[in-house]
Amino acid sequence: MPLRICFVASEIAPLAKTGGLADVTGALIRYLEGAGHDVRSFLPLYSSVDLASLASAPVDFLHDIPLEMGPHRYRYSVVGARLPGSQATVYLIDCPALYARGRIYTTDPDEHLRFLALTRAAFECCQRMGWSPQILHCHDWHTAFGPLFAKTLYAWDRLFQATRSVLTLHNVGYQGVFSAAAVDDLQLGSSRYLLHQDDLRSGFINPLKHGILYADAVTTVSPTYAKEIRTPEYGMGLEQALRARGDSVLGILNGVDYGEWDPRTDRYLPRHYDAGRLAVKAELKAALAARLGLACGPKTALAGVVMRLAAQKGVDLLIQALPHALASHDLACAVVGSGDEPYERALAELQQAFPRRLAFHRGYSEELAHWIEAASDLFLMPSLYEPCGLNQMYSLRYGTVPVVRATGGLADSVQLYDPASGTGTGVLFKEYSAAALERALGAALDLYADPAHWTRMARNGMAQDFSWTRQGAPYVELYERLAGRPAGGV
Ligand code: ADP
Ligand code: GLC
Repeated sequence: MPLRICFVASEIAPLAKTGGLADVTGALIRYLEGAGHDVRSFLPLYSSVDLASLASAPVDFLHDIPLEMGPHRYRYSVVGARLPGSQATVYLIDCPALYARGRIYTTDPDEHLRFLALTRAAFECCQRMGWSPQILHCHDWHTAFGPLFAKTLYAWDRLFQATRSVLTLHNVGYQGVFSAAAVDDLQLGSSRYLLHQDDLRSGFINPLKHGILYADAVTTVSPTYAKEIRTPEYGMGLEQALRARGDSVLGILNGVDYGEWDPRTDRYLPRHYDAGRLAVKAELKAALAARLGLACGPKTALAGVVMRLAAQKGVDLLIQALPHALASHDLACAVVGSGDEPYERALAELQQAFPRRLAFHRGYSEELAHWIEAASDLFLMPSLYEPCGLNQMYSLRYGTVPVVRATGGLADSVQLYDPASGTGTGVLFKEYSAAALERALGAALDLYADPAHWTRMARNGMAQDFSWTRQGAPYVELYERLAGRPAGGV
């Protein structure tokens, strides 16, 4: 039976992206729409959304709508855009006072208002469309007040009486905390008692925590991360709230959009390959090395890195381990990334110290990300924590062996290679230390020196299937289970 699903998210690729959240929402919407469901999505019309590249038009009955949040008054209109590669409509909330900024995320004092407005607008557009979603699917802190709003602010409206909410946690490291002084902005009136009272007394409001408390189901993006976040080491203060939800917290591994990430069809590559044509991969490696000025012969192992430069990604380990690794092995490294300034500086310094061995491109480049995935021999992801991670899954498909720390989705998608049986897809290490990363890299390079093992491991990886056709099904099962369930109280 087709379901009516309302998606509310701060990023949807290719319209607005800073990381994997966008890849996942974009691909999941396409999958659900392709499977025959009625999916309507809500996203801010950020300045960076390239409307000219989309089939889009203003929605005439969603024009100049007032929105009140405590003392703040806004007006917004809505532009409907077709999500490329699907027939699904993304409703873009056009409110320049909130979204006409240089970046998708800001540190401006009204950051909480920007995403409360998105969440509220989603409900109010559903009302104006007379559309009753069976599922409200919210993502991360930005839209985590959706479940509580469904049970309070909009509970009077019969349209939402059968609506069940899902919150997906893509990263519990970002919780969107704001000051309790702004409590009126939530517009909760007499339902204010439902807010976390200890936090309020301590002077703050934690959006993500309220999503965990009130969503009918909470999912996260890998089974291992679902276990990890119940512990103080990974829960970032939310472990208790998560444990209290028991079985309602579920880990569903992300999928990969192979329409975008496939070495047989990749639109950024001049030549294509598959498991039977790995010689093409070697040509791409030579071409990328030449372009980046790397001294990288056929025997040199090329390690790729594509990441947001944030502590989460284990950049510290890379910076500590690479100087010795580059000096003592026949190894070169291609890095594309942007993020925290000290990391950008440290990588630029590494490039100066090893000009022919390490190339660092500071910034965001979709094209270079595809090239690095295709041309590298191995791919490094030594994450401190990783809810899912997509690049290791892309690497597997490109025959680029992942060397990863065994945490979160990395542990769930990469299988340690066993030379005795020839099974496994990569190299994993447990301890979060530069020494452990270096040992893992050493083990990978030993395997690289033996082409029979290396090719076997790369081909094992290429045969893995993380398509949304597989990974999307558990979401539909969850939606169906929830849609048939009576309302949970608050
Ligand atoms: P996260 O969402 O935590 O950043 P993921 O592995 O889930 O990590 O997804 C990251 C996504 O962002 C991938 O599609 C990756 O290719 C892309 N990405 C990250 N940094 C860059 C960059 N500097 N240039 C191009 N793409 C990038
Ligand atoms: C987050 C996580 C990443 C995950 C992505 C998509 O940004 O850091 O691990 O793959 O969301 O779910």
